[in-house]
Amino acid sequence: MTQIEIDSRPWSEITADALVVGVPEHGELSPAAREIDEATGGLVSRLRESKEWTGKLSQVLVLRGLPGVPAARLCLAGTGDDSMPARGAAFRAAAAAAKQLAGHPLKEVALAFDPAWQDDVTTAAVAGTLVGSHGQDLFRKEKRLHAFESVRWLGAASQAEFAERGRILGESVNFARDLVNGPPESIDPQGFVERVKQESDGLDVAIEVWDEKRLAAERCGALLAVGRGSESPPRLLMLEYRGGTSSDRPALALVGKGVTFDSGGYSIKPSESMKAMKCDMAGGATVAATILAIARLELPLHVVGLVGLVENLVSGRAYKLGDVLTARNGKTIEVLNTDAEGRLVLADVLDVACERKPDHLVDLATLTGACMVALGYETAGLFSNNDAWCRQIAEAAQRCGEPAWALPMFPFYAEHLRSQVADLKNVGEGRMAGAIAAAKFLEEFVADDIPWTHIDIAGPSFLEHAKPWIDAGGTGCMVRSLVEVARELALLPKE
Ligand code: BES
Ligand code: MN
Ligand code: ZN
Repeated sequence: MTQIEIDSRPWSEITADALVVGVPEHGELSPAAREIDEATGGLVSRLRESKEWTGKLSQVLVLRGLPGVPAARLCLAGTGDDSMPARGAAFRAAAAAAKQLAGHPLKEVALAFDPAWQDDVTTAAVAGTLVGSHGQDLFRKEKRLHAFESVRWLGAASQAEFAERGRILGESVNFARDLVNGPPESIDPQGFVERVKQESDGLDVAIEVWDEKRLAAERCGALLAVGRGSESPPRLLMLEYRGGTSSDRPALALVGKGVTFDSGGYSIKPSESMKAMKCDMAGGATVAATILAIARLELPLHVVGLVGLVENLVSGRAYKLGDVLTARNGKTIEVLNTDAEGRLVLADVLDVACERKPDHLVDLATLTGACMVALGYETAGLFSNNDAWCRQIAEAAQRCGEPAWALPMFPFYAEHLRSQVADLKNVGEGRMAGAIAAAKFLEEFVADDIPWTHIDIAGPSFLEHAKPWIDAGGTGCMVRSLVEVARELALLPKE
């Protein structure tokens, strides 16, 4: 685990393995960058003027043994222009620098970013450092990325608290990534539960798990049907953190899709589409990581997380096309595609969540390929029954540099889900508006009076190829944004 420390010495006294200095694309250099520019005979200005290295966001340049710089390496980290809010830029710049440096095992890395940055930007940069230096090669003997032993934030002692928050956030994002990157053989429903229990050790988080018998007693007919084809029985994992209140009603409930592997069932996926389907529990991973982060940060907020865990496989017992399921809220569902399984799992879990009468509800799911067709790989889709709640999430995501965009939820889209034999069918009309049809389906299982936002993370939760600031594989997307939302809710005056 990387140690995070504050160091109030100037950069010129730092003899770390690497000194990371933030450099913007345009405009004035920070005091540290200016001094380094002077000490190196104008290196930074010359680079920027020549346009060979411009300081574009996540552009990184590492120079070894530079005269005038006591650290073994100088690492220039581009912080870009102002097109991304400071926090998002700080996260990416620090992560890109860390990823580049982590290619070799380094002990000590010091970070010198603009002291004019707000404290929450410090938090973002520290989080980025941990995320950038953490790889997906959980099982390779020779790792490609090596986490640092210690990271020093060059700043005032008063920033220690913000650096510590960054450590918690970065480790939480990495926890979500590890869950996603873990092979489906070990991260099956029970394996997921165990990994989360282990991680919550020592935290003030109550964990409850419903096994298949309890799920049957609770009439979770839709979730159970999806899980029936697997030898690994389904689970509902519930995490609860009662920060600062004794009220029964949570201020925030988070629901996650936890399909630990999605073969498609009898509507089986071709191999090419199936190969990354260990990622289909990314929503659940984000939910678990966010609740644990909120507990570690000791936010004064009552939150619950619910993750519906199943494996969608084929066998003699698997559910079939034409089956009619009865969900927990009593609605009947005609199954016309066993690959539209996430919405069936969420139908029951959303109903359990609504029973807790949360003030706000969010669900996260790698729900539809259609959302990727609409928004691409990097942007999460937002769908809501409440504009203000949706906007609050969109704005938090914007500040954190996690792209998210709302799609419409007009009432007429519900017509796409009409069945000839049951209350609903589990697919929309052909290929049109598939992400919206899925969201409209979920809406049928949410109480009207609870502000709810569904986040489709099929695109941003998993990278086939590495980015400059993060390795390929699970991304832990939306953990930072949801912690930000939780912080806002915690700051609201209590009724
Ligand atoms: N887990 C998939 C969605 C997905 C696709 C996630 C690609 C990540 C990357 C989901 O269960 C699914 O298969 N959805 C179907 C729905 C369709 C059958 C209505 C899809 O998107 O094709
Ligand atoms: Mn599917
Ligand atoms: Zn799925």
